[in-house]
Order: sequence, then structure tokens, then C-alpha cells
Amino acid sequence: MTQPAPPSDDFALADEFALAAESTPLLPHVLGEIASAGGRIPFARFMALALGHPEHGYYSRADLRWGREGDYETSPEVHSIFGYLWARQVRECWERLGRPSEFALVEPGAGSGAFMAAMLTWLRARAPECFAAARPTVLDGHPNRIEAQRRALLARGFEVEHALTEDWLSQPGQVTGVVISNEFFDALPAHLVERRGDDLLEWYVTADGQGALALVEGAPSTPAIEAYFKGLGLLPGDGARAEVGLAAVEAMRRLAARVERGYVLTIDYGYTAAELYASWRKQGTLMAFRRHSPQPDPLARPGLTDLTYHVDFTSLARAAGDGWQAAPPVAQSEALSVLGLAAAMQAAAARAHEDAQRYAADRRAAETLTDPAGLGRIRVLALARGAPVDGLRCLQPIETLMAPQG
Ligand SMILES: C[S@@+](CC[C@H](N)C(=O)[O-])C[C@H]1O[C@@H](n2cnc3c(N)ncnc32)[C@H](O)[C@@H]1O
Repeated sequence: MTQPAPPSDDFALADEFALAAESTPLLPHVLGEIASAGGRIPFARFMALALGHPEHGYYSRADLRWGREGDYETSPEVHSIFGYLWARQVRECWERLGRPSEFALVEPGAGSGAFMAAMLTWLRARAPECFAAARPTVLDGHPNRIEAQRRALLARGFEVEHALTEDWLSQPGQVTGVVISNEFFDALPAHLVERRGDDLLEWYVTADGQGALALVEGAPSTPAIEAYFKGLGLLPGDGARAEVGLAAVEAMRRLAARVERGYVLTIDYGYTAAELYASWRKQGTLMAFRRHSPQPDPLARPGLTDLTYHVDFTSLARAAGDGWQAAPPVAQSEALSVLGLAAAMQAAAARAHEDAQRYAADRRAAETLTDPAGLGRIRVLALARGAPVDGLRCLQPIETLMAPQG
């Protein structure tokens, strides 16, 4: 008779509470893909699964919650004034395009639908001619999101075209109009790299043998990473980690290609390439969020954790390609002020005695949207083709508006 094997150290030391905390419905799928790929997948592929796995991805899930009830709060969820102010910008773009009788108003990555709903509400009330000309289209990568967006917009009385981003990008022909997005590009998968001397390494995701995930380094998975930095003429600092948003660049290339004449307004956390890859930035910008708290480990609880990073505006602007002009990115805090937030707050203050509670809530929202340590840090990249980018309202310095008239 064989003797039973003595208990292993693993048995004595295993932390089953930690394992329970890490396990999610998506984890077996990630582990399965790692096994079929020979032991590791690029971090970008992990991020694509974590956010976009058709059943268990963060954005694909039917039960995703937005705003305060969710894991993080975006500007359209803070207050509808965000959408009202950007609708003013949309109207100006339409005017600069010569007030066409039909123009496309396209929002990729539309979240709960709150941004498009607010823009259309403002246009309907304050700019009826522009509203009549607008052909709104809401794009998303996930059928559950599209369904929720359709319901949210219909509930407010708006019939809007809904499509998977991929389907809209593959349609033939071009449009005249405005593509406007908020925190869309920073939700697309990014490669994670590290510079070591003259070499670039890439970080992959592997299984640690205990049923959890771990990072492991290797050679770049695609020559596109080296080409990306070569095109920029720079590298991250020695020893620094950085993200390379190849999917974001490709998405911008294809979105811009569908616009014959018009504007692409990108509202996102991001920097110019020189800022993003500055030698002092050692840890990159990758962040994981759950219930409004930053999480130390981006691999933990995949599918239940939001992952995001800061986009490279230089590469996004260049990706737009022939005929496109870009203005230097401006901070959301400034853009919203010149689009009318400052004036709206003055008007609200004058009415404060009518409803003090509402005034307090509006004021809090304005502060949140312009908080220099929070949402106010988001920047706006304006691109134009076949119409001027210079002088666009959202790009104007606040001082110019405050200079004496005459
Ligand atoms: C950070 S959320 C922002 C949502 C919304 N714009 C807002 O500001 O509240 C990112 C959005 O992009 C969508 N998304 C993620 N990956 C996508 C993809 N590959 N194609 C299109 N949309 C995608 C998500 O479903 C989600 O609606």
C-alpha cells in the first residue's frame, strides 16, 4: 500500500481568502487564453479581455453601473450642463461648416447615453435649426451598452442611430459633421512597455501557477511599438514603464477617415507625447478603478475592474492624417469656462435665493467638472478638416474673452 503524500508547504501556506477575492467569472477565460497562447498574452490583449470580453468584460456586462453608483464618475454623469456646453460647441462647428441642412453628430463610446441626451436636449431647446439638421449617431463596442443607450435616449424622446463602432467605421462613404467623444480613447486597450537602455521590452500577462495572474517581460509583440516611438522621435525615460495606445491611434485614423469635412473633438485624460513620455515619468499612467478607489494591481479582479490610461494626443492628432489640422490641447476646466460655465454660474448665483439647494448642487457640479486635480485635468483635442480649427470657441483663452470690448 502506498503512503499518502505528506501535505505540501503550499497546502499549509495557501491564502484561500486572497484567491476568493481575486476570482471573477472572466478569470478562467483569461487563464484559458494564456494557456492556448503558450503561457502569456500581451497586456493589451489582457486589457481587451478585461474590458471587452463579450460576456464578462467590464464594459460588456449587462449590469454595469455609471456615475456615483459605479466605479468612477465621468463628466456627463456629473451634470447635464457638461453636454449643454459641448452642444454650444457643436452648434458653432455646424455654423463653421456653412450650416449644412444635414450633418452627422457622432459620439463613439457613449456610456450611459447621458452625453448625447444632454447635447440633443440643448440643441432642441436653444438651437432648433441645428437640431433639425443633426443626424445623431451613437457608437459603442458592446451590444449591452448599445441597448442601454437606445433605451436612455428613447426615454428622453430622441430617436438616434445606434451602431457598433466597428460597423460604422466599415460603412462606405464619408460624412460632414462632428465626431465628439468623452473618455472613449482612454478605454481602448494599450500595450505596456518598458525602456531598458537602448531596448524596449513589453509586459505580458501570465499565470502564476496558483490560479492568479502576473506580469512577465519579453520582447515587443509587434514591430508597431518600435515604429510608434520612431515616428515620434522619442523614447520613454530609461527604466520607465509606459503605455502605447495602438488601438486608440487606429480608432482615430478610421474615425477621421470617415469625415470628409468637419471636426473631431476628443475629450480625454491625456498629454502630448513629450509630456506623456517625459523621462521623469517612471510608472506610466495605467490605472485600475473599483468603487471610486484606485486599485494597486491592474490584474486583480479582471472584468470587475475598470482599466484606463492617459492617451497620447500627439499620436492621435497625427493619426487623423491628410488634410486634418490640430490645435494644441486645452484643459477641460478652461474649455468649459469659455463655453459658458462661468457665465452660467453667475446666472445661477443671481437666482440662488429661489432655490438654495439646487444652487448648491449646481455649484458643486461646476467645481467637480473643473477641479484641477480631477475632471478639470482632462484635455480637449480639436481636429478639423475642410473648416478652420483656429478660433474654435472651446480653444479660446479665458483672458481674451475677458478683455474689454471695442
Ligand atoms: C470610460 S467609458 C466613457 C463613457 C461615456 N463617454 C462617458 O463619458 O460617460 C468608455 C466607453 O467606451 C465604450 N467602449 C469601450 N471599448 C470600445 C470599443 N472598442 N468600441 C467602442 N466603444 C467602446 C464603453 O462601452 C464605454 O461606453
